[in-house]
Amino acid sequence: MKKIVVFASGSGSNAENIINYFNDKGNVLVTKVYCNKKGAGIFNRCKRLNKECVLFSKNELFSSDDFINQLKKEADYIVLAGFLLKIPSKLIESFPDKIINIHPALLPKYGGKGMYGMNVHNAVKENKETETGITIHFVNENYDEGAIIFQATTKLEDTDSPEDIAQKIHTLEYEHFPKVIASVIIQ
Ligand code: GAR
Repeated sequence: MKKIVVFASGSGSNAENIINYFNDKGNVLVTKVYCNKKGAGIFNRCKRLNKECVLFSKNELFSSDDFINQLKKEADYIVLAGFLLKIPSKLIESFPDKIINIHPALLPKYGGKGMYGMNVHNAVKENKETETGITIHFVNENYDEGAIIFQATTKLEDTDSPEDIAQKIHTLEYEHFPKVIASVIIQ
């Protein structure tokens, strides 16, 4: 049995999708969700799903060995599902090639600091892109620069608003993210 911990910062719809996907699979267990934003939507989702969701601080993430030691007990892999803080080197060193992120664009385009959520979709719209997509990648020390595991694209219409783009991206994320996680974890 492989264990995963999910980090989220916001609504947590991807986290919910991942939890549901692995619920009926016997080989992967989502042990816990961690969130750095008090009151984020993910807390209600976890309550409904009967999954523990723990609030943690940036300080804990960056300076606590206890936190990393705790994670080592709880997780073989860490999945970032809409998690917006940078991952410190110490954590990356403790989980080499075992931290997986999803980015709502076709990296290397629209990556880097400040490029998250609607900021990405607004930029895609502004640049009149004819397609966008998702990138699932390992996390390294630079924002959105780790080795790419998987990408999927979706066509855009002139009439698509940034909200329409966000919806198309979510559809791709829900379809692919859990399966890609499974393919990495279960060798
Ligand atoms: C997702 O679209 C995810 O790709 C994006 O935030 C959204 C979270 O939605 N992540 C990033 O922008 C990371 N740079 P959710 O909270 O409903 O899963």
